[in-house]
Amino acid sequence: MAVQLMQPAGLLLEVRGVHKSFISGGIPLQVLKGIDLTVESGKLTMLRGRSGSGKTTLLNLLGGLDQPSEGEVFFRGRSFQNQSDKQLTMLRRRQIGFVFQSFALLPLFSAWENVELSLRMAGARRSEWKPRTARCLELVGLTKRANHRPYELSGGEQQRIAIAKAIAHKPALLLADEPTAELDSQMAARIIAIFRDIIEAEGIAICMTTHDSTLWEAADVVYQMADGRLQEPE
Ligand SMILES: Nc1ncnc2c1ncn2[C@@H]1O[C@H](COP(=O)(O)OP(=O)(O)O)[C@@H](O)[C@H]1O
Ligand SMILES: [Mg+2]
Repeated sequence: MAVQLMQPAGLLLEVRGVHKSFISGGIPLQVLKGIDLTVESGKLTMLRGRSGSGKTTLLNLLGGLDQPSEGEVFFRGRSFQNQSDKQLTMLRRRQIGFVFQSFALLPLFSAWENVELSLRMAGARRSEWKPRTARCLELVGLTKRANHRPYELSGGEQQRIAIAKAIAHKPALLLADEPTAELDSQMAARIIAIFRDIIEAEGIAICMTTHDSTLWEAADVVYQMADGRLQEPE
C-alpha cells in the first residue's frame, strides 16, 4: 500500500521552493526567488506587493497557467509538474475559476447568459444551468440585473458578473488578479464582502492579488511579496 502523507484538512495548494525566471531582452530576469506558501479551503488569502513584485507571475503558477523554473506547486497533494497539458487543462476547467482586473465578459450576452455559458462550457448538466446561474447571480447580489448586458452595468457590477461566471462550475479554488484595481474603494469593499459570502456559502479557497492596503485586513492570510520572496503571513 502506498504511503499517504497526512495533510491538514483544508490544505488545497502548496507551493514549495518555487523560482521563476524570464528571459527579457536576452537577459535572465529572476522574478520569484524561492516561494513557499499554502492556500486553504474556506479562507481568503491575499498576495500583496508593489507593481512588478511578481504577484501575477505567482498567481499564474497557482492556477497551473504557467510552470515554475524550479520548485513545485501541489494541488490537493498532487504536483502540477507531473501532469500532462491535457490533465492540467481538465483540472483547471473543473477545479479552478479565474477573475481578472478587466472583467472579460461577452458584450452581446446578458449577465444571465454570460454565467450560463460558463456552465455549458464546463459540461454541467442542462438541468443545472438554470438553478446554478440563479444561485451565482444571487451570491453576487445581481439577481435583478440578470437581463442586462455588460455595457448597461457599472464596472463594479460587471466585475460581480465575472465573479459569478468564475464560480459557476463550483471550482475548489478561485484566483483573482487585482480584481478591484479598476473600482472605487466602496465597490472594492463590496467585492471583498462578496468573496467572504462565497467562501462561507461554498467552502472554497479564494486567493487574490492586490496592492490596496485598505483591503488587507479583510483577509484571513496575507503574504507580502518583496524582491521575489515572501514575508511571513500576518
Ligand atoms: N512573460 C514574461 N516575460 C518577461 N518578463 C516578465 C513576464 N511576465 C512578467 N515579467 C516580469 O516579471 C516582473 C513581475 O511581473 P508581475 O508578476 O506581472 O508583477 P505584479 O503582478 O506584481 O505587478 C516584472 O518585472 C515583469 O516585467
Ligand atoms: Mg500583476
